[in-house]
Amino acid sequence: MPSIYIETYGCQMNVSDSELMYGKLQAEGYVATDTPVGADVVLINTCAIRENAEQRVIGRLGELRRDLKPGAVLGVTGCMAQRLGPRLLETDTRVQLVVGPDSYRMLPSLIDGARNGERFSATDFDLEEHYEDFSARRFEGVKAWIPVQRGCDYRCTYCIVPTTRGPERSRKLAEVVRETHEVVAQGITEVVLLGQTVNSYNDGTHDFADLLRAVGAVDGIRRVRYTSPHPNDFSDRVIAAMAETPTVCEHVHLPMQSGSTSMLKRMLRRYSREEDLECVARLRAAMPGLGLTTDIIVGFPGETDEEFEDTLSLCREVRFDDAFTFKFSAREGTPATRMPPEWTIPEAVVDARYDALVATVRGISREKNMARLGERMEVLVEKEARKGELFQARSRDFKTVLVPGTPESIGTYMTVELTGTTGATFTGTPVQERAPLPMAG
Ligand code: 5AD
Ligand code: SF4
Repeated sequence: MPSIYIETYGCQMNVSDSELMYGKLQAEGYVATDTPVGADVVLINTCAIRENAEQRVIGRLGELRRDLKPGAVLGVTGCMAQRLGPRLLETDTRVQLVVGPDSYRMLPSLIDGARNGERFSATDFDLEEHYEDFSARRFEGVKAWIPVQRGCDYRCTYCIVPTTRGPERSRKLAEVVRETHEVVAQGITEVVLLGQTVNSYNDGTHDFADLLRAVGAVDGIRRVRYTSPHPNDFSDRVIAAMAETPTVCEHVHLPMQSGSTSMLKRMLRRYSREEDLECVARLRAAMPGLGLTTDIIVGFPGETDEEFEDTLSLCREVRFDDAFTFKFSAREGTPATRMPPEWTIPEAVVDARYDALVATVRGISREKNMARLGERMEVLVEKEARKGELFQARSRDFKTVLVPGTPESIGTYMTVELTGTTGATFTGTPVQERAPLPMAG
């Protein structure tokens, strides 16, 4: 049987797409392998969000040229494939297939063609495509990524995603619930619902609030998470569904991008600093103790010192548990590239702002984490930690906690006391949950 190797870059949506591709190709008689060396088919599932994500892939393609066995099919899938299309076939003569995110259904036949020496690029969008009949081959045994929405209808001026993943569309609620039952049957108790602006989910009949309640009620599910929401799509209904569904975890990853209203306008984020803060206040009022993380971009065109200061002050005001910070990367064809060239922020300024932002974010995170030592919480053990004999577990509010355990602990829940922190992650000691005392009288 021919073997297939898929290497994944970028976000969880890509991880999920790779699981679907593996599932489809296995159903067609391929066997999965964990190395490109000796594989009959090698696919690189790529990301295009920032220039350096693409540079990594180009470097990797160069390395693979040496590793591939003669006659192996090399294909590029995902966002970079969609963005560059046939251009990739021209620039890299070893690449035979270029397949965008809506064309994975064609993979078996495209691979057949490629094994006969043909070269193809398939990058049409398909607004009906959710790969409902594919059955994902999941590698992660503890939590399941479940795509609920594909594409994006926002047009943030820095972002390539609307170009690479096309217009927004939602899967039917019943299909998402069916898949949730399937993963429970496989022994999985945590699901992560995926979409580019996941809380704008709407399948024509149901909104994201309905989806959270329906998935959260599936028997056997203990934790529901989702990523990434857009601040504008947090309706009262969605917040209430989150608060009232016990399985939905107390954590929101809320990408804010900037704390400056003028900057948010240039980014076309469609909210102001005040609206952002109000969204946080509504979320926190409904779910006290909510974990909050965010994404922030520095060095977007025209960023003034005051605008950057506003971002720092937003971080201090909200006190995020953590933030993913990015230096702006100009993406071909996005509106940001058409802004006046004099708006470009010099690299040294971007670097200095980036360092200041990271220091601010880390400082707050450390303070918040230190204050939680001694707290008891339930964690789900996910995998072996990178070093030592410890295992990596997660709290409902998305803290990483290192705990003692055995390989059998993976996938189980334990109650721990937080006994130490690096500032970013915790160590935890298992505690016995005391049985409730018998009632007097
Ligand atoms: N440059 C830098 N960061 C970007 N992001 C998206 N596009 C760009 C870009 N062109 C960031 C945003 C988004 C996260 C996934 O990546 O912060 O939320
Ligand atoms: Fe990109 Fe904005 Fe859509 Fe997010 S909401 S994928 S940042 S265009």
